[in-house]
Amino acid sequence: MRDILPEDAARIALIEDAFRDVLNRYSYEEIRLPIVEPKNLFDRGLGESTDAVAKEMYSFLDRDNSELALRPEGTASCARAIVNHSMAHEDKPRLWYVGPMFRHERPQAGRYRQFQQVGAEAFGYSGPAIDFELVQVVTDVFEKLGLLDSVTLIINNIGDAAARARFRDALVEYLNPFNADLDSDSKQRLISNPLRILDSKNERTRCILKEAPRLKDFVNEDSTKRFETILEMLDAAQISYEVADQLVRGFDYYTDTVFEWVTERIGAQDAVCAGGRYDGLIELLGGRPTSGVGFAAGIDRIALLLSATQEELEYRSTDVYLIALGEEQRSYLSEIARCIRQGTNLRVREHTEPGRMGAKMRWADKSGAIWAVIAGESEASERNVSIKWLRSDREQVRVPLCGMLDVLEAA
Ligand code: HAM
Repeated sequence: MRDILPEDAARIALIEDAFRDVLNRYSYEEIRLPIVEPKNLFDRGLGESTDAVAKEMYSFLDRDNSELALRPEGTASCARAIVNHSMAHEDKPRLWYVGPMFRHERPQAGRYRQFQQVGAEAFGYSGPAIDFELVQVVTDVFEKLGLLDSVTLIINNIGDAAARARFRDALVEYLNPFNADLDSDSKQRLISNPLRILDSKNERTRCILKEAPRLKDFVNEDSTKRFETILEMLDAAQISYEVADQLVRGFDYYTDTVFEWVTERIGAQDAVCAGGRYDGLIELLGGRPTSGVGFAAGIDRIALLLSATQEELEYRSTDVYLIALGEEQRSYLSEIARCIRQGTNLRVREHTEPGRMGAKMRWADKSGAIWAVIAGESEASERNVSIKWLRSDREQVRVPLCGMLDVLEAA
């Protein structure tokens, strides 16, 4: 697990703000969920044979011997909250959440054991328009962040559980004779989770899969129609996408629509956001049958994408650095600080330590601030300030305190 230092934290905050803003505009409400949940929520919700549960979950015994887990994702927790608070059917909640998730994966660029997701889930909507709306939300966020050209939306229809069971049997039957030629992961998956073989990046396995049965031939007509409607909605909104037969997603709860945004610009961990429909999850967790659909975006990966595609974030924590020449001007300096903080959005830092003027100016420069505002004895007695531009050759000016904001805001 890693520390996120201030500059990266600023980038992450920017991404969170973009999601928060767009989700508010689509009338989704924030929910804050616990980080620790009963382990069996994920066993049941995601499926015991999924990688996230079988191989990657941080689980432990509580002091009273309850089996708990650090949440690997937010959908199961969100669905549990809906059941616990009986919000399912009548309220048709549209919720979003942000926070850390935990998976014991092998760390590499873009893959961390503690990572940050922002997700949204809509419960009680069975029509295709909500699937489309969630795709639209994410598209709006990528557009806002200037990343639309760096990501590709891939989408697929995986049908209901019955269709997948029939497909699974056909796939296993087709792959069994090739067993010796499959990569070792796929060999194992042939027993534990055959659909995930479709995700394999191994060349030879991919080649064998070319002639394999196709999931879409097993999906029922209603589901196929529903999927076509979603694609028509995307076409009408001019949202580009690729239908990807191999996209099956890694959790058991998915039904029908699944989607992912991928990028070629951040290395092997290429999925920056993913989601889909999960119509059986609420019932599985003890609620009344209720549709569900949602997405979760990987904020750390979007941050990598932002730094890969954009010029350096203009990062600084301070705009105005305030310096009193002597301790006698300290209360005047506080008055100046209050005036700037109350009258503008500028970030103001007062130099609080005693010392020589030269040292104070070096701190001002190091802070990244645009201006140093300086108050000496004569400034204080005449209620003036001296303003020095730290990032340009402009000449220092001395203005009355009441005219200071005009100078700072004119820049
Ligand atoms: P997921 O595909 O497991 O889906 O995760 C969603 C996103 O979280 C990924 O696309 C990726 O950007 C990010 N992510 C996942 N694992 C890591 C990691 N180890 N390090 C960094 N980023 C990571 C879900 O979690 C589902 N709950 C999505 C969903 C919501 N489906 C329906 N509603």
